[in-house]
Amino acid sequence: MNPSQHPSGNRATAPASRPQDAARAARRDFETALREGLRREPRQIAPKFFYDQTGSALFDRICELPEYYPTRTEFAILRQHAGEMAECIGPRADLIEFGAGSLQKIRVLLGALREPARLVAIDISAEHLQAEAERLRAEHPALSVLAQAGDFSARLQLPGLSAGAVRRVGFFPGSSIGNFTPAEALAFLRRCAGWLAGGGLLVGVDLVKDPALLHAAYNDSAGVTAAFNLNLLARANRELGSDFDLAAFQHCAFYTPREQRVEMHLISARAQSAQVGGERFDFAEGQSLHTENSCKYTVAGFQALAHAAGLQPQAVWTDAQRLFSVHWLAAP
Ligand code: AVJ
Repeated sequence: MNPSQHPSGNRATAPASRPQDAARAARRDFETALREGLRREPRQIAPKFFYDQTGSALFDRICELPEYYPTRTEFAILRQHAGEMAECIGPRADLIEFGAGSLQKIRVLLGALREPARLVAIDISAEHLQAEAERLRAEHPALSVLAQAGDFSARLQLPGLSAGAVRRVGFFPGSSIGNFTPAEALAFLRRCAGWLAGGGLLVGVDLVKDPALLHAAYNDSAGVTAAFNLNLLARANRELGSDFDLAAFQHCAFYTPREQRVEMHLISARAQSAQVGGERFDFAEGQSLHTENSCKYTVAGFQALAHAAGLQPQAVWTDAQRLFSVHWLAAP
């Protein structure tokens, strides 16, 4: 799913011809990104590397946690306003979903849309996506579903308009846009304005709120978010033969009001070292590997960003508590 918080190590967007090749390319990108990220000060890696099979499954569990309000709140907003959203989108649209994951949210829209032409579902987690696309095809035989494994933070090769389609519409739910810094989000929205000209973008954006609620959402009592964060190192051990001692790293997530974002880090509990691809990295006690930013916006702040990107904020839906927002941004 994720963004170019760090442009290095992007997977090629063209689907690899064989699954083994794709897996090898993904491993190589991960290794490059991790080694480069560990050489930096402060140490960091893009959150898109969370999403191997284990990570994707852990993320699905996060979405069901009582503390993690974004998923169920966005679902409720989509269900309640699907009709109005379908009005904005219009008939015979080609839909592009960014970070499609398990394709649950698009189903809500599909139920309300008039004659959707095609869905291009883009996600970093290829296996997950293929299986889900197959299920969606069975449910919507008239809809053409194209699963594209890739990284939408990189350059994207989108197919042309399908036969019978009159416009392209992007769907970017889940506040995945929060993984971009505002400057990166601006750049992404600018590219959307180009891709989606004549249509628009429906995008889910998590809102600034009581820091206690944010803190709880990223520090759940069942420890699933911690496992999700630590899975990054577990993945490195599995795929890259590295030797991180998982018991000696701690999950750390906090809200920083100045940046309006939740940051996730993995903190070394003691002085230790680990190797990745034969390169040794020393960690001081308390040293951090920054694994994720999850930026939050006000409605007005996000609309200003969209406007600066050349998009026209035309409608916004929120829940009664104003935890989460869904924006319709027309692309002129
Ligand atoms: C998928 C990026 C929207 O930032 O809330 C959940 C990922 N990280 N818990 C988020 C995540 C920790 C999620 N996004």
